[in-house]
Amino acid sequence: MNTAVADKHVPYVIEWREGFKIGIAQVDQEHRHLFSLVRALNLDSVQHTVEELLDYVVTHFSNEQS
Ligand SMILES: [Fe+2]
Repeated sequence: MNTAVADKHVPYVIEWREGFKIGIAQVDQEHRHLFSLVRALNLDSVQHTVEELLDYVVTHFSNEQS
């Protein structure tokens, strides 16, 4: 584990990979944003970040289905 990850208290690394792309720009961007939200978790702001993540997941699933 590198120092930057350890400093954020992330117990494991969650990284976007190009192989996750599905070729729909909006959906790919939303997936990248979901990863960035998960990576933003830290012990000081976890509750706010989880609430933002849950809100964004609901929006994303709605957009993805349409
Ligand atoms: Fe998705």
